[in-house]
Order: sequence, then structure tokens, then C-alpha cells
Amino acid sequence: MRHFLEVEQFKSEEFIGLAERGIEIKNGASLNKNGKSIVNMFFESSTRTKMSFEVAEKQMDFHTYNFDVTTSAVNKGESLYDSILTMKALGMDIAVIRHQNNAYYKDLLDIGISIVNAGSGSGEHPSQCLLDLMTIVEEFGSIQGRKIAIVGDLKHSRVARSNAKILHELGATLYFCSPEEYYDDDFENYGTYQMIDEVISEVDVLMMLRIQFERHTSKARYIDTEAAYLRDYGLNQKRYQQLKKDAIIMHPAPVNRDVEIESSLVESEKSRIVRQMENGVFARMAILEWVKGE
Ligand code: CP
Repeated sequence: MRHFLEVEQFKSEEFIGLAERGIEIKNGASLNKNGKSIVNMFFESSTRTKMSFEVAEKQMDFHTYNFDVTTSAVNKGESLYDSILTMKALGMDIAVIRHQNNAYYKDLLDIGISIVNAGSGSGEHPSQCLLDLMTIVEEFGSIQGRKIAIVGDLKHSRVARSNAKILHELGATLYFCSPEEYYDDDFENYGTYQMIDEVISEVDVLMMLRIQFERHTSKARYIDTEAAYLRDYGLNQKRYQQLKKDAIIMHPAPVNRDVEIESSLVESEKSRIVRQMENGVFARMAILEWVKGE
């Protein structure tokens, strides 16, 4: 039984192989379809991840069920373990789970149902990482030697944690830019801390992050005004003009427009934000195919 949980479980070649498989599927490679049952369980809000898993599942002929947390017995105190045990008893083969706890999946692995991590607290977001790899590989052909700045609320970002690990392993040079309050020393293992203006003209990829207001205590907030954040750490027109000709902009979305990125730049020529969303479906197809063991 396979679980898709965190980037560390994969050798980097295997993970990039999944990204390449996503690209193949996107380009028309045939999919082995089957009738397995899959349940999507989102304990935190989601638009892209939830919907793209659902689209992928339906296109792959899974029997798809959506667990509605708000009307479930979770509200009567049922634990995550018991909820998954129930899903297993109801005949589910795979559970796609987003949960607020970083390590929520550790106790679920022996229940007899495959777990797919659709985002765990501020810990990991491996399926977003896969679609991000697809997007960079589609653009540049490889990761090795690329200069990539990851900018913003690093401390609370599961996207940044997954991407930092795998991009470093695949040979990218990484720069981390953030207010001190949003930095985490863990990132020193993967690259260097820089101010955005020191690297903006050198990078191939400018990966902006959403400020995760919902995970902040009021004390941890850097900004008094959103305009100040955009001025000091965000992508504005002035910084956009300094990017290399072939550089691209990424953001996992949802975007806080005019905070991380000036609104007019979200769909600009260098932006691959919509492409990332499109790739989300194919990345998730590759994941589900892998989980089925094909
Ligand atoms: N990027 C991302 O995970 O978006 P959602 O929260 O909408 O799934």
C-alpha cells in the first residue's frame, strides 16, 4: 500500500519522474483507469487542491466522495483516526486529506487505506510542490543550476518547506527573502537569506508566497499596512522591470492581491500562476496513478 506524504520519502529522481509523468499525461499519454473509491477530506479550506484532485479523480474514473467536515461526526468529537477507520469500513481505498496538524498522517498509515497528503499545517504540501516542479521543468527543461528566490511568509508556508527540500536536492540555488518575523532557521539548510532587491535581477524563478494571516498571532504580523509589505517584500512594477528577460513569477495562490504581488502583475507576461493551477490537475493525476502502484 502506498502513501504520498512528504517529499523526503522520495529519491529526487523518483519525484522528478512524477513531475515528468504529469507532463506526459498533460500531453496526451493514456491513463490506466479503474474503479477504486476515493474520499476527499479537507479539514482546512481549499479551492485549487480540492477541486483539482476531484477533477483528476473523475477523469481517471475513480468513485469520488467528498467528506463534509462541517456536517460530520468530527463535530461530535470523533477523532481523525476514527474518521479514517470509518472511511476504510465504508470501502474507501484512498483518502486525500488536508489537515491543520503538521504530522496528522503519522497515526493513519496502518489502517489499510492509502493516505494522500493534500497539505499538512505549516509542514508539507507535496502535491503543490509537484505541480511547481512541473511548471519549472516545462519552462526551463530542468531544475539543476536554476536560481530561485522564495519570497514571503516562509515560516508558515508548507509550500516553501516542500519546495525548498526538493529544489535544493535537484541542484537549484535557492534564496529566501522575508521579513525576520516570517523567517525560519530551517531554511538555512537549503539556501541563503537575502533581501529581495539583492537577487531580483539574477533569478530565473521568483516564487512569491501568500501571507498566511490565519496562522499568525497578532504579535507575529509584520505589516501595519499592506502597502508597506508590498513596498518592502512584494512584487511591484519597479521590481518586475528588474527581472531577467526569461524569468518567471510563481505563486501557489490564493494571492493576496496588492500585498504579495501588485494586482496588475498577477496575469502579466512573466506570470505562471494560472499555468500552475492548470498543472495541478495533471500533477494530481500522476500522484493518484503512483498511489495505485502503476
Ligand atoms: N495552492 C493551494 O493549495 O491552494 P488551495 O488552498 O486553494 O488548495
